[in-house]
Amino acid sequence: MHIRTPRRATRLAVTAAAATALVLAGTLPATAANGKHPSLRDAAPADLVIGTAAAGGGHHLAQDYEGLEPGQSPFLHDQQYRRELKHEFSSLSPENQMKWEFIHPEQGRYDFAEADAIVKFARQHKQDVRGHTLLWHSQNPAWVEEGDFTAEELRAVLKDHIQTLVGRYKGQIDQWDVANEIFDEGGNLRTSENIWIRELGPGIIADAFRWAHEADPDAKLFFNDYNVEWKGPKSNAYYALIQDLLKQDVPVDGFSVQGHLSTQYGFPGDLRENLQRFDDLGLETAITELDVRMNVPEGQQPTESQLAQQADYYQQALEACLAVDDCNSFTIWGFTDRYSWVPVFFTGEGFANVMTEDYERKPAYYALRDTLLAAAGGK
Ligand code: G3I
Repeated sequence: MHIRTPRRATRLAVTAAAATALVLAGTLPATAANGKHPSLRDAAPADLVIGTAAAGGGHHLAQDYEGLEPGQSPFLHDQQYRRELKHEFSSLSPENQMKWEFIHPEQGRYDFAEADAIVKFARQHKQDVRGHTLLWHSQNPAWVEEGDFTAEELRAVLKDHIQTLVGRYKGQIDQWDVANEIFDEGGNLRTSENIWIRELGPGIIADAFRWAHEADPDAKLFFNDYNVEWKGPKSNAYYALIQDLLKQDVPVDGFSVQGHLSTQYGFPGDLRENLQRFDDLGLETAITELDVRMNVPEGQQPTESQLAQQADYYQQALEACLAVDDCNSFTIWGFTDRYSWVPVFFTGEGFANVMTEDYERKPAYYALRDTLLAAAGGK
């Protein structure tokens, strides 16, 4: 668990370009004490954790990865992956292993093994953990989605699930994505898609936060979503809802933007301003699932200019977080293209991560590291 110092206004006192100059001038450490280049976690300011998703479950189960047996998780079985995971990152998010369908596949049966392994690994390597996720419309098991429950029974099912998970990892999970993706693009609650809201009414959202807080009063409890990087109907809906919940003393601690970006769209230029308005409500903010995909037909490689644009987006996202006082957790959704969800989900798109399939560092990796060095140097 990390002890955080209050954010200083001077954190971005030098830009990333200036950091490279400072490294050359010998003012910043280009290499760590052991002679190696600093990792992302080494380069980061003390009050910012640098995270990644720990790959397993979800799309990984159906992929045929070189070196892994079918269904084996990269997190458990790829040794090079594990070395990078502990070396580069100070926070882990289970990519799928704490989602309902994975951890609670049948009524009365929880499968904690891989989630436990992630939490243990994080403790061994002094990493934070972001719990993901408790109330969501997606990746719910059939016994929940198709179950024949009364409202009262379904409510008890959700409460038991939340308190079992949050309680099991009490003191070991720093931030929980309690409610994930509850609004649609128009800023309306996903009432028909989300079984919890549909069957139990919108008040269930506040209850989910209350139940999680009861189970671990120290965990920071978040709303998390995509396409909320900018100000618009969806992020505005969170802004209104959270103010309402805070007035009712519902224990909401944070608002996080996932950050699934693409080079085919412009960078959300008001990201910093958008995070700032949530910070101004007294909340923590975080970037939780950053990746930057690009259009590259199968069998082709990205161009230099695509990689440069990708690096620029990663850097801008990090700079936005660094500029906001209580944006204290910055997580990328995987770090190697080898295990990315993107090509599985978006045909003809990919290369969204900061390392290639062979763990070579891409310009985006160096952009993040230089930006972190610049921020740490500004202390
Ligand atoms: O359930 C079907 C199964 O019936 C089918 O046979 C199989 C065939 O491939 O696919 C199964 O669905 C897969 C699902 O995981 C199962 O767990 C999807 O194809 C696969 O795309 C999905 O991937 C996960 C995705 O969440 C699901 O929404 C990814 O691994 C995971 O990286 C991704 O992560 C989400 C975050 O949790 C929330 N924010 C968005 C982010 C990206 O979608």
